[in-house]
Amino acid sequence: MLTPVTPRSWYLIGRSKDFKVGKIKKITIYQTDFVITRKTTGTLVAWANRCPHMGADLSRGHVHQDQLVCPFHAWRFNDKGECTHIPADPESLGCSRKLKTYPIIEKFGLVFINNSRKPNFDLPFFDDLREKMLIAGRPFQIQQDAAWYVVSANAFDVAHFVHVHNRIPLRDPEVEDLGDYGKRIKHFYKIKPSNVIADKIIGFFFGKEGTLEYTVFGSNYILAKSTFGRFSNHMVIVLQPSGENKSISTIALVKDISDANLFQIAFRKLVLKFQTFFTKKFFKAEADEILGVRVNKNSLHKSDGILKEYLEYVEKVLGLQGAPGL
Ligand code: FES
Ligand SMILES: [Fe+2]
Repeated sequence: MLTPVTPRSWYLIGRSKDFKVGKIKKITIYQTDFVITRKTTGTLVAWANRCPHMGADLSRGHVHQDQLVCPFHAWRFNDKGECTHIPADPESLGCSRKLKTYPIIEKFGLVFINNSRKPNFDLPFFDDLREKMLIAGRPFQIQQDAAWYVVSANAFDVAHFVHVHNRIPLRDPEVEDLGDYGKRIKHFYKIKPSNVIADKIIGFFFGKEGTLEYTVFGSNYILAKSTFGRFSNHMVIVLQPSGENKSISTIALVKDISDANLFQIAFRKLVLKFQTFFTKKFFKAEADEILGVRVNKNSLHKSDGILKEYLEYVEKVLGLQGAPGL
């Protein structure tokens, strides 16, 4: 695959506080730029970065009364992408060419954009958390020397869990299809004794038996939940290509505060920072683990059945978007 396919899906692009009223923020999802603004009402707007007039870079423009003004001939666009003012022809009622706008959603302090103007699926979320009672940790990014679908396939590569992650399976994982765009795997395991500090801490406080529920939507948007006894770790992981056989993960942890008082909220924020620290270490090690890995369905063994099924799911999702296979 020479030109990486960018899944038409949701992407995590930062925290709410990164987007200020009246300011333009440019974000890039593999070679495609978008500009984001926040209106005075607080709503976010996502636009294509290229002006429909002559293609000027709109991130160099400015905002005027919640509308985006192109830096080249100062055409002005509203949040529907309609051109509302052309300085060279002020009497005109705009132009027929629209600036593209994209779905953008803010949830629990994180911001997500869809690179398809008509999303294939709604922004997914954890079944067991109530959206209004959550805090999110600072998102971080990890670069991988492997294609994005190789990264998302990792949780379906059942055989590596014991060797790399010191997780001994207690029984077969459960695999489930969730409509056309979703696929879930749930692992049941216990920690194998090792010198890994995070595992020692978890084993001591919460026990050695745990689960990992890993749900992929659109082949790149992942909700991962790991549990050990009372301990749980909820993560949003979003993958995007960054070149041929290269990818970036953007990861944020979220935590439930629905039953917490102010003191407990402050404590959970601190715990979230610790969890983010360890999770980052984990994902850096994970990036080393898959460095240079190139998955090919034909090279797999019959013991890789779940992984093969996952790659077929990725191909199906890409096929639904009219994209070439892997
Ligand atoms: S290129 Fe944007 S107004 Fe001309
Ligand atoms: Fe792994």
